[in-house]
Amino acid sequence: KVFTDYFFDKTAFNVHDAAYVPLVVPEVPETKLLIPSILKPDKETATDAWYTLTAQAGETQMLPGAKTKTWGYGTSVLGQTIVYQVGKHNHVTLQNQLPELTTFHWHGLGVTGPYVDGGCHAPVYPGESKTIDFTLNQPGATTWLHPHPCPSTAEQVWRGLAAMVIVKDDSENGLNLPHDYGVDDIPVILQDRFFEDDNQWDYRKRYDPDGIQGPTPVINGTVNPVFDVTTQKIRLRILDGANRREWRLHFSDDLPFVQVAGDSSLLPHPVTMTHLMITCAERAEIVLDFKDYQADDTVTLFTDDTPLIQFKIHEFSANHTTIPERLYTIHTPEVDSNTAIRKIVMSGMDEMVMLDGKKFEMERIDATQPIGLEQYWDITNTNDMKDGMVHPFHVHGTEFLVISRNGKAPYPNEHGYKDTVGVNPGETVRIQVRFYLPGLYMYHCHILEHEDGGMMAQIQSFEPGQPLPQYELMNMDKM
Ligand code: C2O
Ligand code: CU
Ligand code: CU
Repeated sequence: KVFTDYFFDKTAFNVHDAAYVPLVVPEVPETKLLIPSILKPDKETATDAWYTLTAQAGETQMLPGAKTKTWGYGTSVLGQTIVYQVGKHNHVTLQNQLPELTTFHWHGLGVTGPYVDGGCHAPVYPGESKTIDFTLNQPGATTWLHPHPCPSTAEQVWRGLAAMVIVKDDSENGLNLPHDYGVDDIPVILQDRFFEDDNQWDYRKRYDPDGIQGPTPVINGTVNPVFDVTTQKIRLRILDGANRREWRLHFSDDLPFVQVAGDSSLLPHPVTMTHLMITCAERAEIVLDFKDYQADDTVTLFTDDTPLIQFKIHEFSANHTTIPERLYTIHTPEVDSNTAIRKIVMSGMDEMVMLDGKKFEMERIDATQPIGLEQYWDITNTNDMKDGMVHPFHVHGTEFLVISRNGKAPYPNEHGYKDTVGVNPGETVRIQVRFYLPGLYMYHCHILEHEDGGMMAQIQSFEPGQPLPQYELMNMDKM
């Protein structure tokens, strides 16, 4: 079966927003899609790896003419791709060379909050550095790193801070999927920016409380990218790294592709589709097969009607392998019927956004959940269908399962583990959440301006029978 629709409610697509900024095809020469290099460990043994990450300011040639002032992790914009092996003990030194406080949030990693997780309680002040360490025990997945200081996450991401973080585990490594980074296993970070006349980005000028947007697609920091295809199959690790924009992806010739992974794990089974909508912070891994193309053909990736990347086909050798029908087995136990359902409400638009009728407060802990307990969370978006928007709901520090949408089956491509789920206006999405580490974790809408605007809360997971640890929490005076 080939799925040919976007699944989400059409009436809620961002193109209906009053402030929607349509994309414009940039009239600049083609540029090779930038493939961020892989961050090398400073040192590595069989059991441990040491890394240094630096948040820094720089300049990037994005358009002809003046360079754009940008921020990045060890690079001028975005960051090097980080690869963590499950089971390895990682030591990461976080350096801040920016002129302001930042944090290093591991979106999608199962690490303890609130400090290692890098949410708003883990500041690294300008000129300072901090070392964290953790061992991952989670499925192989495409995750990411971004800043999370309250309330300037949106502005710091807009300035360029975002890096892909690939989690590698043995079962994924052993599958017959493209694995050659930069050759047939390609990071695709989708963003949009507003280039002012001097080629600069001006966050304040283009600010929108429902999420800043720009008319220029920027992919891996590249405007008008082309990618040279030298293998019959390629795997794209797609990340919606935009502050607000949703992407409705499809290829020329309606070329079908196979989604093999979502945010936090492989899918149980591959899903063949021609269209894919991805909301802020979500990831999707897809495999494309160019068997019906030959050298000098071009295949274009579009969002709605706007071309994003041109794939230029070169000679390749035939690849007759097939994607395994079973990619991943989920072992999560069922929820005990005596366990209460946690109700979470995302409401409002613009400055009025709230979570459970409240605005986020750094020193207020909104909920608790014992580690190991499987619990349903019912996430409701109370926006009305006509003028509402999709709110992408995200939980730190764990992976969850999507159980239902308004009581009906989830979309066919959301059966794996996820950490972010788009909730349509008027919809209640049931997810199954458990924490496996004690800590303090944030949960929020991942439209970054909604998060900064207070559509966020925090939950403490705890070891049953143990005294609740007290955390040192940030407040506005320490910012
Ligand atoms: Cu991408 Cu609070 O996270
Ligand atoms: Cu996160
Ligand atoms: Cu939102």
